[in-house]
Amino acid sequence: MLLSLEAVSKHYKLGDTTIRALDSITIKVDRGEFIAIMGPSGSGKSTFLQVASTLAVPTKGSITLNDREISSYNEVERARLRNKYIGFVFQQFNLLPRTSALANVELPLIYAKVSVSERSKRAKAMLELVGLGDRLSNAPAQLSGGQQQRVAIARALVNDPDLIFADEPTGNLDTKSGDDIKKLLTKLNNQGRTIIMVTHEPDVAEIAKRLVLFRDGKIVSDRQQRKRKAVKK
Ligand SMILES: Nc1ncnc2c1ncn2[C@@H]1O[C@H](COP(=O)(O)OP(=O)(O)OP(=O)(O)O)[C@@H](O)[C@H]1O
Ligand SMILES: [Mg+2]
Repeated sequence: MLLSLEAVSKHYKLGDTTIRALDSITIKVDRGEFIAIMGPSGSGKSTFLQVASTLAVPTKGSITLNDREISSYNEVERARLRNKYIGFVFQQFNLLPRTSALANVELPLIYAKVSVSERSKRAKAMLELVGLGDRLSNAPAQLSGGQQQRVAIARALVNDPDLIFADEPTGNLDTKSGDDIKKLLTKLNNQGRTIIMVTHEPDVAEIAKRLVLFRDGKIVSDRQQRKRKAVKK
């Protein structure tokens, strides 16, 4: 078992009211899975990704990653854990603006104290994997939305994480760029990487092997999707 959440809740207090962003979520994720999460706006999808990826701490419940209980980890322990095991792709890319694609992808390796030469070698290899080997020195403003998202994906992958979280990775992209990201995520999963992705788009959810539906902070459906058979020409 790679990741397991047991009765996990995340509550926010706003004045006198308590918002149950997550309301007793239980889910198990095996290595190699590709999960799409869908549900109405405000149903807790992003909160789930944040809590499951240790960016946020749960109010209640237990989380284990690689069979280690992590829900009581402090800030520093969680940061170390993320650096080692977790890649996160945000909807807004979150790239450093005046910094080259290569330097953006190298960033997590600096935190991980990887040597300078190894850093640039690995960052370059990742950018080649996402099809941007010829754009290493471009800053985000010199790249299209789809290319920026691919830089963000390369950055999420450069530490070779066990688990990739993506929050609407195609949300801000045109159809062509969205298709490129779909192909890339499919390829990464075929290489054995575990992916948990939130999306509003049915055609993006379709590439995942398992579909989980959220409503009102709860999981209301969780099923394997039949994989489409490849059509032989
Ligand atoms: N920091 C916060 N403080 C208070 N309430 C919050 C906070 N973050 C999220 N919420 C509330 O928790 C609920 C779940 O929010 P969340 O962002 O997880 O929804 P979502 O499913 O990702 O929605 P969307 O599809 O619009 O991105 C919402 O009611 C939201 O207003
Ligand atoms: Mg969200």
